[in-house]
Amino acid sequence: MMNQTVADLAHRPRRLRLTEGVRRMVRETMLSPADFVYPLFVRHGRDLRVPVRSMPGVAQLTVDHLAVEAREVARLGIPAVILFGIPEHKDAVGSDNYAPDGIVPQAIRAIKDAVPELLVISDMCFCEYTDHGHCGLINQPGQPHYTPTLPEGYLLNDPTLELLARASVVHAQAGADLIAPSGMLDGMVGAIRRALDAAGYAHVAIMSYAVKYASGFYGPFREAAESPPRFGDRSQYQMDPANRTEALREAALDVAEGADILMVKPALPYLDVLSAVRQAFTLPVAAYQVSGEYAMLQAAAANGWLDLRRCALESLVAIKRAGANIILTYFAKDAARWLT
Ligand code: PBG
Repeated sequence: MMNQTVADLAHRPRRLRLTEGVRRMVRETMLSPADFVYPLFVRHGRDLRVPVRSMPGVAQLTVDHLAVEAREVARLGIPAVILFGIPEHKDAVGSDNYAPDGIVPQAIRAIKDAVPELLVISDMCFCEYTDHGHCGLINQPGQPHYTPTLPEGYLLNDPTLELLARASVVHAQAGADLIAPSGMLDGMVGAIRRALDAAGYAHVAIMSYAVKYASGFYGPFREAAESPPRFGDRSQYQMDPANRTEALREAALDVAEGADILMVKPALPYLDVLSAVRQAFTLPVAAYQVSGEYAMLQAAAANGWLDLRRCALESLVAIKRAGANIILTYFAKDAARWLT
């Protein structure tokens, strides 16, 4: 016979794990389809679904497929989609991003016509639209805003802010409910807020990619969005994966500039950062489970090495437990089905 201590008599955690009923009763974190945002890649052309090789189940869709897709997403109880556009023509200034009939404005109108209550979030960045694949204007001789005192190849901050502001107004005019600036430019939230307010879109919210790391986990996305940088990488504007205090500084700036929702990206490798942002601020916090996180799970499952459903749901509940109120995920539709 073991000697029982008072502590043993007081509480034995396993009593609360015995059956699914008791586990459900004491569960601290519940996933729901209402937690998710589903990313959509929209391309030019007609009647196409072009599968993304490194992201099984994900495809680039033409605008004529969006009504059906939007109805399906809404039927599953998912409140929002986020749009990424792949334009037919790219140029040095990414002009398709602020063209009123550009690929994303067309997509926004198609979705809002089909399902008005489905929230449309517009990812606001230039990397899909520029011929060099960077997130804004690049300092190059002969190109707009060339400044000889700045390094060549430098991402020009303030001239890019003007274009982000202009494109945000165009997307708001098309019916976007939220603008999600993802380029990690200094002052992007403030510039977009001012432009939206001045143009009569004070009701359009900003979900800022406040804390976005220079991550290798975006690899499959760059295939999906056809947006890899032609030279260099994004380390001069996205965050160093080694830094956490800096994340709080970035988030504080976005709060001061008028952000409505703060995002941390990627998700699973950065749960400590997500938790710190959750604790430091009272705004809703979103986390982006990115393309590489999705691809890893899909690849392991395809090899029979992991159970996809179990590991995807475990990752999602971990992201929520760490502090996310909203999760952007390519698993949104599957997870919504698994949960109901
Ligand atoms: C655009 C943007 C990227 C992602 C979201 N918005 C790519 C990047 O920064 O290179 C990545 C999303 C994913 O990997 O799923 N700037």
